Amino acid sequence: MGKNRVSLFLGLSIVSVVMASCGGNSATPPANAASAQMPGEAVYRNTCAVCHQSQGEGIAGSFPPLAKSDFLANREKAILQVVKGSSGDLVVNGVKYNGIMPPQSLKDHEIAAVLTYVYSSFGNTRGAVTVDEVKAVREKM
Ligand code: HEC
Repeated sequence: MGKNRVSLFLGLSIVSVVMASCGGNSATPPANAASAQMPGEAVYRNTCAVCHQSQGEGIAGSFPPLAKSDFLANREKAILQVVKGSSGDLVVNGVKYNGIMPPQSLKDHEIAAVLTYVYSSFGNTRGAVTVDEVKAVREKM
């Protein structure tokens, strides 16, 4: 191999390495566009199920149930619960809980969606919770 051929070979190698790394960058998948408008069930799975469990059954002594919870009868209290969280005594279906629920940093439409899901799942038949109801509770805070 003559001297010219060696440098040509080196030059091509560098060009192909640079091109490969650029190609790698442009192949990065786009950010998940669906997350902006998660339906209520997805919000529930991602946000609430870790504590309230997948069927809303809760965990005795720690996390109160959402399934057939009488707490849900007061819609403002339920919305406030999600927006502000709570700590201290809280009674659900006659059973006392004393835990901590951190405030959930969700958008108004996500809170409406997740509560609509809860209100129509796990044996609950309480109808939809609207974005306007969530806004009204926030305005009173
Ligand atoms: C980190 C655990 C945790 C997460 C996450 C959580 N909660 Fe809670 N939740 C609790 C605890 C603990 C209580 C009881 C708090 C108390 O004793 O003051 C509670 C109480 C409630 C109540 C009132 C009592 C009842 O069971 O009806 C509602 C309604 C509720 N949570 C809904 C939700 C929703 C909806 C989400 C998701 C957007 C959510 N929670 C996320 C732990 C959690």
